[in-house]
Amino acid sequence: MQVNDEIDFIELLKNPIRLFGLTYIYFLSVAGFLGAYYLWNMNDVSKNGIAPVVLKDSTQFVQDISMQRGALIPPVNVAEVGKSSKVLVDKGANLFKANCASCHGDNGMGDGPSGASMAVKPRNFHSAEGWKNGRKVSNMYKTLQDGIVQNGMQSFNYLPAEDRFAIIHFVRTFANDFPLDSSSELMDLEKAYNLSQGSQLPPRIPVRLAMLKIEQESMGDSEYVIGVSKSIGAAKQDDLGGALAHRFCVNNTKIAAALYSLKDKNVDEFIRIISIDPVTLGFKSEVTRLSREEWNALYSYFSKINKKS
Ligand code: HEC
Repeated sequence: MQVNDEIDFIELLKNPIRLFGLTYIYFLSVAGFLGAYYLWNMNDVSKNGIAPVVLKDSTQFVQDISMQRGALIPPVNVAEVGKSSKVLVDKGANLFKANCASCHGDNGMGDGPSGASMAVKPRNFHSAEGWKNGRKVSNMYKTLQDGIVQNGMQSFNYLPAEDRFAIIHFVRTFANDFPLDSSSELMDLEKAYNLSQGSQLPPRIPVRLAMLKIEQESMGDSEYVIGVSKSIGAAKQDDLGGALAHRFCVNNTKIAAALYSLKDKNVDEFIRIISIDPVTLGFKSEVTRLSREEWNALYSYFSKINKKS
């Protein structure tokens, strides 16, 4: 075979399939370099592109009262439901499965799936040691009423009293040495929770949620606020005041509510009050950097709107 020391391009053009014979070396080395590049940068490839969330401050974790559904707790005859019966135990078994087994386990061993990660383990009902409130019916009723909330045992105060007795009687089937209540202890229980009268459990929502709702409702109701916030939204930009309003107003409803209480204030007070906490009042924080002339323009712009409403 004849060996050419130069590439014969004319020959290549006539027989283009041969091109591949030459280019595959090129492709192979490119692929090789890409692979090597990837390997060299392996550490960066696995780096997190998105920065982890940093919580700003711990006020987000302040405890608030919990959400509670309202309930009507019908009256019961403690002398009856205080004693175990087959009907109550059967009912209690179902209720236990639905409400308690996730933590205390199907067989009351304290080994339910939700309990596994808890700092204080759910009680094992087969063991008599270390009960906090006690093992009598009246003691356990208190536990269900108040919970041991700090340790993860929640309150079941929304369950009808009879259901709670039923659950307690079922729990007491896990061992045969549960102590009995004297009749005076059952009487005390009845008095303590007004069981023969029944009671009403008011619904409850967290304070922060309530404040938010009150704020929204009181603002939403006022025609003044609706009118003014619309006017701000429609600010014409042909004068300085309008243009500034357009630039620095973020939450027109909040601003309208603020303007209501700023109605009779002069320009100095207007500036002073807004500058204390512009963001809460609905402005951009940069509004504090306005010049005196600009403040005057903004003030007279809002005064005009105020007069119209
Ligand atoms: C979210 C998990 C959870 C659920 C659901 C739960 N418990 Fe508990 N329970 C616990 C934990 C944790 C303890 C241990 C608290 C402690 O020892 O301070 C406990 C303790 C108890 C105790 C022992 C109180 C004492 O005197 O020491 C009783 C009784 C009890 N629970 C009954 C119930 C019943 C009945 C239900 C269902 C209606 C129920 N629990 C549902 C977590 C739970």
